[in-house]
Amino acid sequence: MKFGHYDDSAREYVITNPRTPYPWINYLGNEDFFSLTSNTSGGYTFYKDAKFRRLTRYRYNNVPVDNGGKYFYINDNGDVWNPGWKPTQTPLDSYSCRHGMSYSVFTGERNGLRAEVTQFIPLKTWAEVLRVKLKNTSNAPKKFKFFSFIEWCLWNAEDDMQNLQRNFSTGEVEVVGSTIYHKTEFKERRNHYAFYNVNAPIQGFDTDRDQWKGLYNNFDRPDAVFEGKPRNSEAHGWSPCASHYFEIELAPGEEKVLVFTLGYIEVDKDNKWESKSIINKKPALELMARFDTNEKVDAELKKLSDYWSNLLSTIEVKTGDERIDRSVNIWNQYQCMVTFNMSRSASFFETGIGRGMGFRDSNQDLIGFVHQVPERARERIIDIASTQFEDGSAYHQYQPLTKRGNHAVGGNFNDDPLWLILSTTDYIKESGDYSILDEMVPYDNDASKATSHFEHLRRSFMHTVNNLGPHGLPLIGRADWNDCLNLNCFSSEPNESFQTTNNQMGRTAESLMIAGQFVLYGNEYIKLCKQIGKHEEAAVAQTHVDNMVAAVKAHGWDGEWFLRAYDFYGKKIGSNENEEGKIFIESQGFCGMAGIGLEEGLVKKAMDSVKEHLDCEYGIVLNQPAFTKYYIEYGEISTYPAGYKENAGIFCHNNPWIMIAETLIGDGDRAFDYWAKITPAFLQDISDLHKVEPYVYAQMIAGKDAYKPGEAKNSWLTGTAAWNFAAITQYILGVKPDYTGLAVNPCIPKAWDGFAFTRKFRGATYNITVKNPNHVSKGVKSLTVNGAAVTGFVIPTQAAGSVVDVQVVMG
Ligand code: BGC
Ligand code: NOJ
Repeated sequence: MKFGHYDDSAREYVITNPRTPYPWINYLGNEDFFSLTSNTSGGYTFYKDAKFRRLTRYRYNNVPVDNGGKYFYINDNGDVWNPGWKPTQTPLDSYSCRHGMSYSVFTGERNGLRAEVTQFIPLKTWAEVLRVKLKNTSNAPKKFKFFSFIEWCLWNAEDDMQNLQRNFSTGEVEVVGSTIYHKTEFKERRNHYAFYNVNAPIQGFDTDRDQWKGLYNNFDRPDAVFEGKPRNSEAHGWSPCASHYFEIELAPGEEKVLVFTLGYIEVDKDNKWESKSIINKKPALELMARFDTNEKVDAELKKLSDYWSNLLSTIEVKTGDERIDRSVNIWNQYQCMVTFNMSRSASFFETGIGRGMGFRDSNQDLIGFVHQVPERARERIIDIASTQFEDGSAYHQYQPLTKRGNHAVGGNFNDDPLWLILSTTDYIKESGDYSILDEMVPYDNDASKATSHFEHLRRSFMHTVNNLGPHGLPLIGRADWNDCLNLNCFSSEPNESFQTTNNQMGRTAESLMIAGQFVLYGNEYIKLCKQIGKHEEAAVAQTHVDNMVAAVKAHGWDGEWFLRAYDFYGKKIGSNENEEGKIFIESQGFCGMAGIGLEEGLVKKAMDSVKEHLDCEYGIVLNQPAFTKYYIEYGEISTYPAGYKENAGIFCHNNPWIMIAETLIGDGDRAFDYWAKITPAFLQDISDLHKVEPYVYAQMIAGKDAYKPGEAKNSWLTGTAAWNFAAITQYILGVKPDYTGLAVNPCIPKAWDGFAFTRKFRGATYNITVKNPNHVSKGVKSLTVNGAAVTGFVIPTQAAGSVVDVQVVMG
């Protein structure tokens, strides 16, 4: 069952039934200022950091779901409704929500009145614009009352939810003309305030939520709206809000446009006040003036659209299957941008107060976005590396506002450092900019300890070498990529966090996932060293990588697949000898991608075992058999019911590792089949089962052991976005940047005749046509660049500004 459709030419998903199986959301904002909005106008806004600078309030885990947002109410002679259907849920004669690239448009129509709300954050702006068009579509004049509504959050979203004894006394507002200012805590340590403005005179307002709504009412029955009478209330403490009130008359066919601006202002500390207790509004007035007409809003929307056209023009494919094309050309790239901006902080499953920017997450997210904004990727790499410790280990997360490591979330996840090699080498291959390696980068944000970024990479690499266990395999530390494989945790206390507790920190538990990761990114490190003439360093690194390959072959192969780990007691995990958890996906993926034992057929065998034991109708599950009891020596993984999350769920993030390993051994049919199984554009028709947005990947789809296999959770913020993008574009379609040029080495289903791929790379545009006359999966028979034959499959970097014709024949 579907709840909408794609409009590819507009790059929109159009929701036509507001009762989606879960709120289907969109992200607004591209750099510092962000907003989340559901298909029924629920959501919230923040500046940089969803925890520390939240402008509007949102209640997670609410009943009903998704209550609170940027609402508009129409009272048409007693008939009260919202353009986005919620909160009143008054049936609409027509409803649509168009989620596009950093904007959403809600259109509701009832009894001859149409309301269209366009919501977006203009580029490089600390403000959200909500343009409302109200049109009388009937033959008679219309007279109605119109209200806006938002609820302020008292800045620190965590504190806002829990420190009520203080918060109920701190709220402060100012109302001047059509602007409501939220100046809570401004008189003390803050140098920022927010405002909600509309570009027309108002006939009333409210700033006290409970006077506007009535203490015992919900947002679907605000007294002021139902009575058609604003209270003109001034909030002192309690819950400040902002509501504008209009009385509107429209002749038949007439349209009225109102522009609302929700802005965030920082003033310097000496310039906070206009007069005693009156805030300095100069910068706010300047900001409002930028969007005070419909024409100005149109111009900003055009800029936003051009911005996205430009970003998305870097990679464009034509495969003959619109589901593939819309995934690659639009939605997957869009999701990569969102994960790059948010890491795992704020979604409808991540509350914005728990997690900042993840060390491993952000490094991986980067591979999905580096082609679009290499400069921002460079800055991000430096920010991440600046939180690293001198021994190469890392804080697991840092706060976006301060860019400092977050102690509360712990460290000692031994996969973390190695991801820095992935992000940096991908960045250099994309941009050709080696200067990042010479950049002086602090440790733990202490500039006095800075070294070159290259040295950070060396320490990342050496961190594994310096932390090997009894079998010469990498120690797992607190956990590896799988946060729930907590082999040193031993928790028997329900109030302990699996993520930060170590009851017995031994030096025995080893990870085969990190072993594969070390070989894969160790080889990247060696290649980089050679590229920049550090041959001695390359030779030293090579011995470490060779030793690891030998250790994996000697102690990490179970006969049919790679083991997953050795536990605290030195016992195998992910072995046929185990009763549960006999086989895991991560080590097959990483040892497979690293090509360990490729010659001896180990990779092929491992992939066949994945197919046999882990694949199911909806994707590849993480492990089998699922754990059915709690193993204190394994930790959180065994806490989940079978089929969910890290316990045999389809964890979409790691499925692409298998796709990529399949391309290494040349099985394009399997690689593509795995990709299509979890790619949202292929799941639209089962939206009622899948539940979350059909335009973005979810972190997890319930596996075959679950109560409802195929049901997804945790959409949007997941490494799934970047990894699937890499799998389809770089390994299946096979177009991948390298130091000296652009490699084209597809691995596709045999039935395909070919495809077209346009790639902007270091300033040149490559129009690549791939033909597959002999219906093979892999193999480049010939490659011509502007008619001239090239040996191998790497197109040498062409002059910036040139447009290059590339013909590839497979066979
Ligand atoms: C989840 C993981 C997540 C971790 C850290 C666990 O409960 O299952 O997916 O990475 O928490 O937040
Ligand atoms: C989600 C976390 O964000 C990510 O860092 C981790 O690798 C996966 N869960 C798997 O546990």
